[in-house]
Amino acid sequence: MQKLSERINRLAESATLAMARMSRELKAEGKDVIALSLGEPDFNTPEFIKDAAKEAITNNYSHYTPVPGLDELRNSIAKKFKRDNKLEFTKDEIVVSTGAKQSLANICLSLLDPGDEVLLPCPYWVSYAEIIKLAEGIPVEISSSVTKNFKVSPKQIENAITDKTRMFMFSSPCNPSGSVYTEDELREIAEIFKKYPNIYIVSDEIYEHINFTDKHFSIGTIDSLKDRVITVNGVSKGFAMTGWRVGFIGAPLWIAKACNKIQGQVTSATCAIAQKATEEAMNADPKIVTNEMKSSFLKRRDLLLEKLNSIKGIKCNIPDGAFYIFPDVSYFFGKSDGDKVIKNADDLCMYLLNSCYVALVSGAPFGNPECVRISYAASENNLLEAAKRIQIQLEKLK
Ligand SMILES: Cc1ncc(COP(=O)(O)O)c(C=O)c1O
Repeated sequence: MQKLSERINRLAESATLAMARMSRELKAEGKDVIALSLGEPDFNTPEFIKDAAKEAITNNYSHYTPVPGLDELRNSIAKKFKRDNKLEFTKDEIVVSTGAKQSLANICLSLLDPGDEVLLPCPYWVSYAEIIKLAEGIPVEISSSVTKNFKVSPKQIENAITDKTRMFMFSSPCNPSGSVYTEDELREIAEIFKKYPNIYIVSDEIYEHINFTDKHFSIGTIDSLKDRVITVNGVSKGFAMTGWRVGFIGAPLWIAKACNKIQGQVTSATCAIAQKATEEAMNADPKIVTNEMKSSFLKRRDLLLEKLNSIKGIKCNIPDGAFYIFPDVSYFFGKSDGDKVIKNADDLCMYLLNSCYVALVSGAPFGNPECVRISYAASENNLLEAAKRIQIQLEKLK
């Protein structure tokens, strides 16, 4: 009998990876697909980081490393946290993992008991809800919308807190909305959590360096929360290193130790060569590494926003970071091209994929079913062509 566990049956496939798979299949059939569904920079890893990896191979970094990462890497991450975020961590409070995705899984498995609730401001990154469920926790959504710039208020957060609330998890800059919580907003949110000492805050700062306001604020620097913020970061986005699989946390020692314990049984540590490359990335001036990428993203954001805003029925906010636009497309729900009725964002994404070969991701698995996520980590030509195709197809819906 082929019987899978209840745990795996509860888990949804990653929506972004599913869309990537479907667009690959269409491409293999020879269709001219423009994939704006991907969550990775379309830049290559900087040369000096690649050189560090080559040197690591020559120097025989081919052995297991300590489970939480090489000492020299964790020391350079501690320096990065201090330099960029004003966060103080010792080497032992840092755990390096196989991507920030594994860091998040380690945290949830370490802190959540069955039935514990985790507050997720909407929209949230798709994997948060599924990782929480994997750890037998319960995701609790706090709603937001395009008119609120996809941010939640302290009052909404307080209203969602119950006896079972164990954690608050968010990303700023946010995937998928690109919204950036300001220092003032985070201080107001911190005032709420001051009253609830049993709630832990997971601050996912993986898009830190792709922030067009140039003002990144780490909630972990707020004194009253110091002992219960886990700061998550990594090199995937800011350093164009998605395939290297390195993410990390800075956390109170007892949480870092728990994450270390899980990792020691599941993966040991991430790749030694990737760790040496990451050490080089951490020691570099992030401005020099990311400036070119950031200005290129900003240009593309403005280009795509202008095109989208000229399409009747699409409502966008102005994203301050990351490389996504998250428009409200609910105007099209209930409309039809004469063949099929578009009931929701999932239908709209399938309609666009199959009719004009543009791959987007539905907002539903991000907690905002009235939206779609468009990644602008693509060439300007592809963005212009995609916007043209989207406009033509959407105008057919009556
Ligand atoms: C908000 C957010 N957090 C974490 C991750 C995971 O990054 P990685 O596992 O590549 O470090 C992603 C990747 O898409 C993300 O968008």
